[in-house]
Amino acid sequence: MKVLVVGGAGYIGSHVVLELQQAGHDVYVLDNLQTGHREAVATAPFFPGDIADNELLSRLISEHRIEAAVHLAADSTVGLSMQDPGIFFNNNVGKGALFLDTLVKTGVKILVFSSSAAVYGSPDNMPIKESHPLNPVNVYGSTKIMFEEMMHWYEKIYGLRWMALRYFNAAGAAPGYGIGEDHNPETHLIPIILQTILGQRQELQIFGNDYPTPDGTCIRDYIHVADLSRAHVLGLEALSAGEAGGVYNLGNGQGFSVREVVRVCEAVTGQKIAAGISPRRFGDPPVLVASAEKIKSELGWVPQYPDLESIAASAWEWHRLNPNGFNKQL
Ligand SMILES: NC(=O)c1ccc[n+]([C@@H]2O[C@H](COP(=O)([O-])OP(=O)(O)OC[C@H]3O[C@@H](n4cnc5c(N)ncnc54)[C@H](O)[C@@H]3O)[C@@H](O)[C@H]2O)c1
Repeated sequence: MKVLVVGGAGYIGSHVVLELQQAGHDVYVLDNLQTGHREAVATAPFFPGDIADNELLSRLISEHRIEAAVHLAADSTVGLSMQDPGIFFNNNVGKGALFLDTLVKTGVKILVFSSSAAVYGSPDNMPIKESHPLNPVNVYGSTKIMFEEMMHWYEKIYGLRWMALRYFNAAGAAPGYGIGEDHNPETHLIPIILQTILGQRQELQIFGNDYPTPDGTCIRDYIHVADLSRAHVLGLEALSAGEAGGVYNLGNGQGFSVREVVRVCEAVTGQKIAAGISPRRFGDPPVLVASAEKIKSELGWVPQYPDLESIAASAWEWHRLNPNGFNKQL
């Protein structure tokens, strides 16, 4: 298939590009580089631009006969969404709506979308199934639901075939292919631990050690970015074969506390780090663990790196080789 990946210069997007190419698809990337890196897209045609640019998008789709798309282009710093919600409504919803409209009106009716566990808020039942009520506790999660709803209506009205993959915590890298996580500012736990190990931060701040969990710190479900990316390939292929889409959780079904993640990173790197305790952050649920049974049974998705050691080891390899991320000049 000829697949357009928007947001393909970002952390997850660049790994999705790699998996799609390895599965034999022709990939084209559009990204405005607001958080992405041009260097992360070494092997696919790259188009600098915005998802809201109807003219550029229409031209790209018709010139390259695009048949399907993956949409990862969004603002995703959860805390920022509660300080400046307009950024999120504008990009994730407003520009997302323009993008979706251009897609279907240029005849692209297969779409896989990056949704998030943030749609569930602070869930009551664990592991979380797709049928769990949606109750986001931040604007970011709410914008993901809004885009899911748009796809639902575009299915009814235009026959869009879509899939929303609700990612839990993506981590890890493909260091052998020169790609890994490089967000600025970094808000994700594993890269922050590894930056602390590299001496780029003085200590790790743990937000809350009084949660109702065995060691008092929050528990999350980590999924290797390669496993997550492969699910996009399965999703696109299933949609193109005429199978029904819908929403799917993507996690490993196993939770690790912040302290456990620190221990695994220390074991993988052979180094200890200092950790301080800060107050809880608003809206951080104690435990978030996915049930990924639906995607396993319906799409045959099988994680190849379900263990946290492999995830942390690949992330460490990337950070060790690229301590300044893609910006080698620093
Ligand atoms: N990282 C995670 O653990 C996680 C978890 C759940 C969901 N997600 C979702 O996955 C997607 C990718 O996340 P990521 O961690 O790779 O983030 P990222 O910031 O690294 O990637 C997003 C990419 O989209 C591009 N982009 C943003 N707005 C754009 C626009 N209007 N036009 C063109 N390009 C635009 C950015 O430049 C960047 O390259 C996001 O939609 C995010 O909400 C991520």
